[in-house]
Amino acid sequence: MTFHTALAETIAVYDRSAAEFAARTGDFWPERALRRFQEYAPAAAWVLDAGSGPGRDSRYLAGLGYRPVALDLSAGMLREGQWLGLTAHGAAAVQGDLRRLPFASRSFLGVWACASLLHLLRHELHAALTEFGRVLRAGCLYLALKEGEGEGWQDGDYGPRFFTYYRPGQVAQALQAAGFLVLESWVNDPGAGRQPWLNYLAWHEEQT
Ligand SMILES: C[S@@+](CC[C@H](N)C(=O)[O-])C[C@H]1O[C@@H](n2cnc3c(N)ncnc32)[C@H](O)[C@@H]1O
Repeated sequence: MTFHTALAETIAVYDRSAAEFAARTGDFWPERALRRFQEYAPAAAWVLDAGSGPGRDSRYLAGLGYRPVALDLSAGMLREGQWLGLTAHGAAAVQGDLRRLPFASRSFLGVWACASLLHLLRHELHAALTEFGRVLRAGCLYLALKEGEGEGWQDGDYGPRFFTYYRPGQVAQALQAAGFLVLESWVNDPGAGRQPWLNYLAWHEEQT
């Protein structure tokens, strides 16, 4: 596994802009995803918030009675989460790479990956999804990626970040190849010339 420049530079942008990111995205409420996730992840389960940022969704998950573990590569994002009460809300926070998760196999009953795998190179998606399958017992995955073609740098709200975009069929194929069964998918259109979000809820059987 290489720590390539695109990822390193993107994480550095998150380190620097964590407070601004938290302020801009902190009141987003992923209602449909949370509602559907609750149907598949049993109450009080350990769930992994993979690429948690400052932990908005970890706080929601804790509020719903789950035991979230927030993982992010950006120390700045995790620090911001502490100030915002991430750990106070009952979530553990771990600095780590979602391409090689620092957790034992079968540790979780759910994985929540909102807008995090989109910074990996295309060929790394399979390894990351396979890692999710490894740390899941029988359990569900929520995954959100940006729709589009190709990959590249976006110098938007926070500084230049590297994104990989996907077509719906590509994501479904990648999930299947990593052993997931797609339960449901939907598209959110953010409007105003921004790329739509692809949302997936998928199931991974227990590995024998
Ligand atoms: C767009 S933000 C999304 C944060 C949060 N999930 C949310 O929905 O607000 C992407 C996050 O993924 C993290 N990230 C990207 N690549 C990562 C990797 N390889 N390992 C761990 N975290 C990563 C970034 O540091 C950043 O916090």
